[in-house]
Amino acid sequence: MTAKQGAGACSGGAGRPRLPGATITGWGTALPDTVVTNADFEARLDTSDAWIAERTGIRERHFGGTTSGLAVEAARRALKVAGVEAEEIDLLVLSTTTPDKTVPATSSAVHAELGCRGAAFDLNAACAGFVYALVTAVSMFQAGFSKALVIGADTLSRITDMEDRSTAVLFADGAGALVLESTPDHELVLGHDLGLDGSLLPILYCDHGEYMKMEGKEVFRRAVRATVESAESVLSATGTTGDDIALFVPHQANKRIIDAVAQRLGLDESRSAIVLDHTGNTSSASIPLALSEAADAERLNDGDLVLMSGFGAGMTWATALLRWGR
Ligand code: ACO
Repeated sequence: MTAKQGAGACSGGAGRPRLPGATITGWGTALPDTVVTNADFEARLDTSDAWIAERTGIRERHFGGTTSGLAVEAARRALKVAGVEAEEIDLLVLSTTTPDKTVPATSSAVHAELGCRGAAFDLNAACAGFVYALVTAVSMFQAGFSKALVIGADTLSRITDMEDRSTAVLFADGAGALVLESTPDHELVLGHDLGLDGSLLPILYCDHGEYMKMEGKEVFRRAVRATVESAESVLSATGTTGDDIALFVPHQANKRIIDAVAQRLGLDESRSAIVLDHTGNTSSASIPLALSEAADAERLNDGDLVLMSGFGAGMTWATALLRWGR
């Protein structure tokens, strides 16, 4: 994004081969039991419910659990909705920035606990990671995989300084999972754009054993620009406009970022899937959490176009335009 955001990005539309056919058959979420409200922060930090709600849109969030534990819980729910047994899964992609261990990948524990077979690996593209994982899994259907679990799970409370009001009120824990099945009959990913500008690494990072450091204002500014440009590149490559989008599923970092992006894309507020009011920013989990809650609320119909877009540390960004249904 230093020169022109998107310079290092690929566009999944014009000029690129189509992704293999796929369908989303299951979805599920997991949030830890402990709920922390803005009032809880107000009681011990120099902040207020009004400031947090107005500046971010967050009212409460969940803390606790492990990344693998939350991933397993969300995956079990997704498998149940899909009517698929864990042993039928031949590909597991887990997007996370907060692995349980340095080695092995957290997907190992999830794979073992669920009883999946086949390949499994972690992917880290920060808060854009779930869209990276989804595009990766669908692409791997070309290589012969047929049933995938794509999970976004993070426990950001473990790497957040709870004494720092500028980050403590934002980040939280959770997981979301989708079951994807290969099929020649449905084009799921109509277009995608995955990108990164590594020169922006210093605005949001976390060293080993330390807490996240963030230049909030700069992240905000870059996030709006990256998300708008990435989404516009996918809309343009697929010959669609904001009017065609039934549901916008953005990364849930800040309601003001979501509203600014939606407005620039010509999407009215009613078409955004919002969960951050009760989840906070759960990084990789935020997009599947928002999509799953929308699906549970029956906000999606066969044929609907769903625009997912995320941004995160790196700085990464990722957009996918999906056609819901079979
Ligand atoms: N309560 C009260 N005041 C606060 C708080 C708080 N919790 N946090 C910061 N402030 C203060 C600041 O200290 C500052 O005070 P000052 O003017 O006396 O210096 C004032 O509020 C304004 O601070 P700003 O940073 O200008 O506030 P802003 O309106 O930009 O909101 C926020 C801050 C919410 C962090 C916003 O910039 C933001 O959301 N940025 C994007 C963050 C983000 O998306 N991060 C996730 C990236 S995804 C990933 O990879 C994890």
